Amino acid sequence: MYGMINEGIRTFIINNHDEQTWETICQKAAVEGRSFDHMKSYDDSVTYDLVGAVSEHTGLSAGEVMAKFGSYWIDYAGSSSYGKLMKRAGDSFLERLAGLDDMHAQIKKSMPHLKPPSFQLEEIADRTYHLHYFSQRTGLDTMVVGLLDGLAEETGARIAVKQVAEKSETVDHSVFEIVLAH
Ligand code: HEM
Repeated sequence: MYGMINEGIRTFIINNHDEQTWETICQKAAVEGRSFDHMKSYDDSVTYDLVGAVSEHTGLSAGEVMAKFGSYWIDYAGSSSYGKLMKRAGDSFLERLAGLDDMHAQIKKSMPHLKPPSFQLEEIADRTYHLHYFSQRTGLDTMVVGLLDGLAEETGARIAVKQVAEKSETVDHSVFEIVLAH
């Protein structure tokens, strides 16, 4: 994944802990160098190894680490130069969700090796939606939950999210059910 993701993990750790903790995590993950070039594509294993090391260090499961990072990412990426792309889709939670594919497509113009996720939003009942999440990767479902929580917080929406399908050998994508409170 692009170094911007790994840099997000780095600042997430330094903000919540300190530089020394980041050093320890890099050592555990056997990651060389202590920072990443935002615009360079790194092997996905770097990101997964970092998450594994954070999990080992904090005692949180990898899924919990991903969820917390997902929430943090909304602030981190939102305050980067790409933030305006996220806001371009509109001010509401649903508009931002509907705009995710366009937003990642815009980002791909400056990050050509991007393998972006794809989302489809389906209204299944009043204020209840299924968000279909397509990815070339696995293991990022809890990050999506964190991203949704972060996006809801930023747009002032109150949501309840539960995963209703998980990508596997026989199911080609994961699905999240989102209920919007009044
Ligand atoms: C300004 C805001 C954002 C920026 C700059 C951004 C950028 C990125 C980048 C650089 C990657 C790594 C992909 C790669 O290197 O192949 C990524 C992945 C991803 N993004 Fe975003 N993103 C933003 C907001 C969001 C939001 C709001 C969501 C969902 C609610 C989201 C969902 C994801 C997911 C799930 C992945 C993992 C890729 C996969 O599933 O294979 N992103 N994004």
